[in-house]
Amino acid sequence: MTAPEQPAQQGIAPSTAGDRLPAPAWAYMLRCGDGSLYSGWTSDLARRLKAHNGGAHGARYTRSHGGGTLAYTQRFDTKQQAMRREAQLKRLPKAEKEALAARWLADSRVTIRPAVTGDAPAVNGLYCWYVGHSTATFQYGCPTVEETRRDIEAVWRHAPFLVAETAAGQLAGYACAHPWHTREAFAWDMETTVYCSPDAVGQGVGRRLYTALLEVLQAQGYYNAIALVARPNPASAAFHRAMGYARVGCEPRTGYKFGRWLDLDTWVRPLRSGTDAPMPVTPVPPPEALAAALRRANAPA
Ligand SMILES: CC(C)(COP(=O)(O)OP(=O)(O)OC[C@H]1O[C@@H](n2cnc3c(N)ncnc32)[C@H](O)[C@@H]1OP(=O)(O)O)[C@@H](O)C(=O)NCCC(=O)NCCS
Repeated sequence: MTAPEQPAQQGIAPSTAGDRLPAPAWAYMLRCGDGSLYSGWTSDLARRLKAHNGGAHGARYTRSHGGGTLAYTQRFDTKQQAMRREAQLKRLPKAEKEALAARWLADSRVTIRPAVTGDAPAVNGLYCWYVGHSTATFQYGCPTVEETRRDIEAVWRHAPFLVAETAAGQLAGYACAHPWHTREAFAWDMETTVYCSPDAVGQGVGRRLYTALLEVLQAQGYYNAIALVARPNPASAAFHRAMGYARVGCEPRTGYKFGRWLDLDTWVRPLRSGTDAPMPVTPVPPPEALAAALRRANAPA
């Protein structure tokens, strides 16, 4: 048999720092503890919110006015645009600021619901945002909308695929789970995934999605929820810790993206205790368990 006459195949070309899309920036307002509105801009919404609420490098104003919760955000492609918007916000009369905040609050109210295949374009758009901007995913190129549609269908054969939707119909985040490994002995382990819209981070959306997801996985009879978290991703590490996961291992220098090597941490949250033989899992999420988890996720705080 003769060898096929084909040019030697090249492996994957490493992603460079230049492949990362330019970092966006946000103009925002906070509702402070004393009811006043504070305007600012940031390149990292979640980190800035933490800083305003007792973290390091917060603003003097929010420190002395009782911290704050998000009352308005607008995303921009450049920090110059966000800074200009911040300056405009600061100059707005109080009544106009309040009107903006009221509209934002109404539009950004979030409902958690089951994903349907019609959500594929929005889910794909959100995931692709992170493919281009972040090392949270090790993927270099975007999946197609059709691949995302097939993924939503595939997830539902084992676990819930949940989306968070704003009153304005925007996707604020999603969470889902995939079998950790295909071999039979792993049948009680699920890998969980969560992505929030960059406009919605740090506002409790991730917690609501994951709490509902974990509740249903537990009702299905799974024993372990496992998350792979690239390092550095301090938001995801803090989030998984807050959700009851513990870091159990690290694969050092295992991914290369945007011109740097990355570690990959494994985080585990037990869903059940005990060492007795497990019952077989219920592969399709039971409707009653799903409905109860969504009722709790959408109950007024
Ligand atoms: C990680 C992520 C899903 C968290 O969701 P979120 O909606 O921003 O988090 P929440 O506001 O619900 O916060 C839940 C908890 O995590 C903590 N947390 C979230 N982000 C944090 C941050 N940047 N720093 C410190 N703690 C943080 C919160 O303090 C909160 O704790 P508490 O409920 O005990 O007060 C979200 O930031 C995100 O989508 N990041 C980008 C994508 C990503 O990294 N996905 C994970 C891939 S492994």
